[in-house]
Amino acid sequence: MSSNMSVDVSIAYMQRMHMEDIQEIEEASFGDPWLPEVISFSVRRKDTTGVVAIVNSEVAGYAIYQLVSEDNQACIRVARLAVAEWCRCCGVGGVLLDDLLGRLTLVRDKLVFPVRESNLIAQVWLREYGLYCDEIRDDWFGDGESAYVFTKYFGGEK
Ligand SMILES: CC(C)(COP(=O)(O)OP(=O)(O)OC[C@H]1O[C@@H](n2cnc3c(N)ncnc32)[C@H](O)[C@@H]1OP(=O)(O)O)[C@@H](O)C(=O)NCCC(=O)NCCS
Repeated sequence: MSSNMSVDVSIAYMQRMHMEDIQEIEEASFGDPWLPEVISFSVRRKDTTGVVAIVNSEVAGYAIYQLVSEDNQACIRVARLAVAEWCRCCGVGGVLLDDLLGRLTLVRDKLVFPVRESNLIAQVWLREYGLYCDEIRDDWFGDGESAYVFTKYFGGEK
């Protein structure tokens, strides 16, 4: 795990009032930013949840995840996770990831995190937190890029 935790972080469910900050982070973080309407629509779905990381009363990061079934196994699949540039490498991404891992149960025991093949920083970061890439999914993203699928199981490795 990252050793540089230097800020107090709390996690809350994503709400409408967070959307402006989320949009700023989204645009600074991704080449294919989701529109605010897409984020709002997706987190209103029954199987999808958004959480935010709050630092000094500001939105410092967020994650959007889905409860899905893959190969007949119930999983948490991360759809989006990003940290504001002003707060990177302070452990905020790790706190968001820990929150998602804390939502695993004996029956929903696998976290699945597909990241772009080109996103080397995210891959290094996920390995830092003990996730392993155990699958490559061709053509996973809308523009045809492959996903490196990182996973972690409830209570550790299987
Ligand atoms: C990937 C991301 C979420 C990491 O969040 P973070 O809060 O900065 O990361 P943490 O502080 O939890 O972890 C830091 C560790 O991750 C790794 N890491 C993070 N950023 C890194 C970078 N730019 N270069 C190298 N290693 C990096 C290091 O191992 C680091 O540990 P160290 O500080 O002891 O060297 C953040 O960089 C981000 O939002 N990126 C853009 C969006 C994205 O790619 N999301 C993931 C795919 S959806």
